[in-house]
Amino acid sequence: MEKRAQFLLALSAAAAAAFVAVVFVLRWVLHFREGLAWDGGPAEFNWHPVLIVIGFVVLQGIAIIVYRLPWTWQCSKLLMKFIHAGLNLLAFILAVISMVAVFDFHNFAKIPNMYSLHSWLGLAVVVLYGLQLVLGVGMYLIPVAPVSWKAAFMPLHVYSGLSLFITVIAVALMGITEKLIFGLSNPKYKDSPPEALFVNVLGVLLVVFGGLILWIATRTSWKRPSDQVLHALHTSAGGEDNTKVGPALSQLSEGNDAESSSDVRRRGNKLGDEAE
Ligand code: HEM
Repeated sequence: MEKRAQFLLALSAAAAAAFVAVVFVLRWVLHFREGLAWDGGPAEFNWHPVLIVIGFVVLQGIAIIVYRLPWTWQCSKLLMKFIHAGLNLLAFILAVISMVAVFDFHNFAKIPNMYSLHSWLGLAVVVLYGLQLVLGVGMYLIPVAPVSWKAAFMPLHVYSGLSLFITVIAVALMGITEKLIFGLSNPKYKDSPPEALFVNVLGVLLVVFGGLILWIATRTSWKRPSDQVLHALHTSAGGEDNTKVGPALSQLSEGNDAESSSDVRRRGNKLGDEAE
């Protein structure tokens, strides 16, 4: 019960940070900046931060923790995989549209493309996110890969997913800082006008949201129960050597595994469908 309360507290804090961040980015472009339009001008550029915050940060964050929501645990793992993949796909599409907006704006204003560190890391993270999406769908949604491959690939999928999420937040912070330096001239960023303070708070909110998502995602005891069984098997089956998970799974369904409480066995029997 206490575990559930702690989870709900972390989830509510993440939801609040995400909601306020979306309100802040909209107020930034609509109140302090030129608004939103698709005309090649600064208002088209403004889609860039808006779609990144809504899509690449918030939707991606939700996609990462969607398996942790206790009220989804009675849904099939397949349905949850579709929701996870669908949210990631939506985040990717919004990130691509946000990139089109900034390239369009640059070309229209004859500003060079891809000169900044922000743009290099930004393009790299979008390309790698696309690759992560394709590999994830290929491995876990198209039913061709053997269970042992799925289990062996999972640590890499989790590691690269979390690394990309952290990088997205870092790149967004770089973009915010750049925009404040470029966009504020009189008074300048260093003079701390209201817009600068307001948008600094947006950056802090993105970091808080990112930190909470990472916290929720990395608590083993908050995992979907069937995933906790897999995790226990994974660690008892030889630490980092994931190739041993396959045999461990079959041991579990035969009831031979060391961790053989009736509860674990009952859940273990569902693993054919649940194993990633
Ligand atoms: C992970 C999130 C982000 C990604 C992947 C990303 C990606 C990119 C890319 C690839 C460019 C280069 C476009 C070109 O050269 O024509 C760019 C430009 C730019 N972005 Fe972002 N961006 C992100 C977040 C943000 C945010 C939140 C802001 C805040 C306003 C921002 C501000 C800028 C600015 C000012 C430019 C033009 C200057 C430059 O090329 O560095 N970016 N972004």
